[in-house]
Amino acid sequence: MLIAVDRDDPNSSWDATDSLAELAALASTAGAEVVGTAIQRLDKPDNATYLGKGRARQAADEAKALGVTLIIADDELSPSQQRQLEEVMECRVLDRTALILDIFAQHARTREGQLQVELAQNEYRLPRLAGSSEHLSRLGGGSRGAAGVGGAIGARGPGETKLEIDRRRVRARIAQLKRELEEVRAHRTRQRQLRMGQALPVVAVVGYTNAGKSTLFNALTASAVLVEDKLFATLDPTTRHLILPSKQEVLLTDTVGFIQKLPTALVAAFRATLEEVREADILLEVVDINHENAVEQSETVQQVLGELGAGDKPRLTALNKVDLLDDPAEADRSLFPNAVPISALRQEGFAELMDVLGRIVAETMEPVQVQIPFERGDLVELFHRRGRIREETHLANGTYIDGFLPPQLSGIFAPYAATVVSEA
Ligand code: GTP
Repeated sequence: MLIAVDRDDPNSSWDATDSLAELAALASTAGAEVVGTAIQRLDKPDNATYLGKGRARQAADEAKALGVTLIIADDELSPSQQRQLEEVMECRVLDRTALILDIFAQHARTREGQLQVELAQNEYRLPRLAGSSEHLSRLGGGSRGAAGVGGAIGARGPGETKLEIDRRRVRARIAQLKRELEEVRAHRTRQRQLRMGQALPVVAVVGYTNAGKSTLFNALTASAVLVEDKLFATLDPTTRHLILPSKQEVLLTDTVGFIQKLPTALVAAFRATLEEVREADILLEVVDINHENAVEQSETVQQVLGELGAGDKPRLTALNKVDLLDDPAEADRSLFPNAVPISALRQEGFAELMDVLGRIVAETMEPVQVQIPFERGDLVELFHRRGRIREETHLANGTYIDGFLPPQLSGIFAPYAATVVSEA
């Protein structure tokens, strides 16, 4: 059974029913079957039992009648709310945060992602240990304690309780996870430096969870895998070298899905991943245009981007899953910046998407006119790969190019700056 407080919050574009519908989808993703909901209109959740006590009791009766074995609240509960609610409902209670952490744990694709989610889970668990072990001892013990206590013999101080041992173990695991993440991070920094040396524009794929980021990322880079830049491939499976049809090259990087009421523990844990977003040159937002809350989801993405200080970056929007629309014209481009309807699954709309991306890449560059002598064919080739060409003419004493280059490369081309446009 799902429970929610309807706050009628003017600051949120989500209403309680939409949020609850999303919670239901999350619950079934995690393997639960939703059999009922209880929703109460309140200015803010009750400090003790989330729903008001009367409504909570009523919900408990409904739950019992339905044979409910798990209650999920649509917000993060404090440890004491969770405990008191379990007492009233006489049933296990989870919150939105625990559910999201569970789903992220199942879906974490990279070693770093797995470390981050486990860290978030442990930080979430730490202040809640008291409740669960008291609860368990009241129910007659039966926790996984026995072996653990034995294992801690010798490391224990006099009179240390099981709770203290549990807490110590979780803290030790948190410290270890942080150390491992620190190493991954150092790795990332080295990788970023390598990338900067390459002067390739970095495009971060962002979007609400389930919008189709990974599907698009994989489809776009599938052919690139064959020619894949070994350097990046071995460093990070979520960053790929992409060559646009215009011959421009970019680095495409996949990111974690955003979600409304993103748990604070998760934001902290994913800080390093989200930093990729902050350092990206361009954002490619994927929107599930078939979703009835597409606009709300995109607003949530915008809000998280704003919090990361990445709200103003050049952006294009892939209106994904148009194959599910009755009429592709339903995908309203006017609601999103530089929108292109696509189907990541059917690989449709990619040509226009790549064209818009190429144009935006060029907009982040500086206009230049150069005349390159024939013996520097390598520079002409570099211009093709890293820049965008407006006009190319072969003259008697070299190649004249009018186009755009990333600022990092302007130094290399400076000696060949052309002032005379054409001698032909
Ligand atoms: P998170 O990892 O949760 O952030 O999700 P994501 O944004 O990476 O989404 P993902 O690529 O995993 O796709 C989510 C679901 O949408 C999958 O079941 C995909 O098969 C489906 N999907 C993605 N693109 C399309 C599309 O163009 N059309 C249709 N019909 N389904 C799609």
